[in-house]
Amino acid sequence: MSASKNIKPAKITKICCIGAGYVGGPTMSVIAKMCPEITVTIVDINKEKIAQWNGDDLDNLPIFENGLKEIITERRGKNLFFSTDIDQAIKDAQMIFISVNTPTKTYGQGKGMAADLKYIELCARQIATVATSDKIVVEKSTIPVRTAQTIKQILDNTSSDFKFQILSNPEFLSEGTAIKDLMNPDRVLIGGEQSKAGEEAIEALAAIYSRWISQEKIIRTNVWSSELSKLTANAFLAQRISSINAMSALCEKTGANIEEVSLAIGMDSRIGSKFLQASVGFGGSCFQKDILNLVYISQTLGLPEVAHYWENVLIINDYQKTRFAQNIISTLFNTVSSKKITFLGWAFKKETNDTRESAAIYVAWELLQDQADIHVYDPKVTVDQISRDLKLVSKGLFNGNEGQGTITIHKEPYSATYDAHAIAILTEWDEFKTYNWQKIYDQMKKPAFLFDGRNILDRKQLDTIGFQTYQIGK
Ligand SMILES: NC(=O)c1ccc[n+]([C@@H]2O[C@H](COP(=O)([O-])OP(=O)(O)OC[C@H]3O[C@@H](n4cnc5c(N)ncnc54)[C@H](O)[C@@H]3O)[C@@H](O)[C@H]2O)c1
Repeated sequence: MSASKNIKPAKITKICCIGAGYVGGPTMSVIAKMCPEITVTIVDINKEKIAQWNGDDLDNLPIFENGLKEIITERRGKNLFFSTDIDQAIKDAQMIFISVNTPTKTYGQGKGMAADLKYIELCARQIATVATSDKIVVEKSTIPVRTAQTIKQILDNTSSDFKFQILSNPEFLSEGTAIKDLMNPDRVLIGGEQSKAGEEAIEALAAIYSRWISQEKIIRTNVWSSELSKLTANAFLAQRISSINAMSALCEKTGANIEEVSLAIGMDSRIGSKFLQASVGFGGSCFQKDILNLVYISQTLGLPEVAHYWENVLIINDYQKTRFAQNIISTLFNTVSSKKITFLGWAFKKETNDTRESAAIYVAWELLQDQADIHVYDPKVTVDQISRDLKLVSKGLFNGNEGQGTITIHKEPYSATYDAHAIAILTEWDEFKTYNWQKIYDQMKKPAFLFDGRNILDRKQLDTIGFQTYQIGK
């Protein structure tokens, strides 16, 4: 579908975004920066989060992304606003983005697999109730294919005569590089209804992006293709990680080296070199939930073979995390009970404070069940977040009582590693490479074990110092 010449889209001057999280915050900040004549209001039901977005301390924003606080400083109070007055922001806006969370359902039908669309539905109902003019509603959240239908049904069944157009505009940003990705995306995808009104809505949104993104990069499709493309992109990315991780297990059994294998296959232009880094497993809020969702959709549409195919991506990811934890226990003479195991890193990847589905959480829980004393240092993650993560993963079982291991959080790496039996690298933070590893080795118990779950450290250097080093796929 290409941009039609006869379409005259409405000029958008007021945008509302429902959901001030990892997607809503950065995406809308960038729109506000690049379109100073558009007023952008980001709303959320979470009062605390909105207070943080509005706070004076820009180091205490709800999320950390390089370059974000500079944009907030530049635009907040001018054309970028954060508010809890959702009704007013909906009323004022011509275009409303829905950027709320779509987690995996934890109850009832589809429990543990389907996307929970209750937050999306609530937004649609709220828009239907309070709108006093026509609106373009944009799905920014990742949702199952055909969700636009649900939103449309709710909006079209109000007593008012207002017209609603639903667009799908999935977000492909990568946490840790969100601002860079938003400023210079590989593509922007806009799905809309194939009608004159649908095309006008598509072009109204395309006009916003075209302020800083070239037309060739703005793809127009039908709504269903757009919705499914987001799930497909995440499934393919996660599949590459699981593929290389599966090969890493084979490398460890055969004497092959996963980095050499990655290099060799990555130079094949049909394969490409990105996302071929073996690791302790992928985390983040999206890959697992979106694949579970894909599996659920495939099952419910009577495609069990397709469901089974994608489910294996998750099975390998779980296997990789378990394999890493079990290797630590077996290497430390089959028990980590009362042993100090230091985790360097807790976030699911570097340059973010997001810990959702982080491999560190799962590895920690395995070790805690073997009564380890885990000590954590992460440059960005808070103590409270780590406690919340452990409660969640242990289903409330972890409380640091007798018979369980313990968890201690540190503000710097040298106290975290002092007197440790072993160190495990769980996040690929660059600063870990710059530590004084000789000093760390000297203050550790011997033999000093090091499990590099991200393959970021210099193996030769560590071996020379005297560490007993384990890296993935080597
Ligand atoms: N995080 C990512 O990297 C990423 C990337 C692309 C797409 N996505 C998708 O974007 C969506 C949002 O993800 P996120 O990481 O920003 O989630 P998030 O949890 O960080 O933010 C969602 C926000 O929505 C708010 N919210 C929920 N219901 C609301 C309602 N009815 N009214 C007002 N506010 C409400 C929550 O309080 C929360 O602050 C998800 O569907 C996700 O899959 C995420």
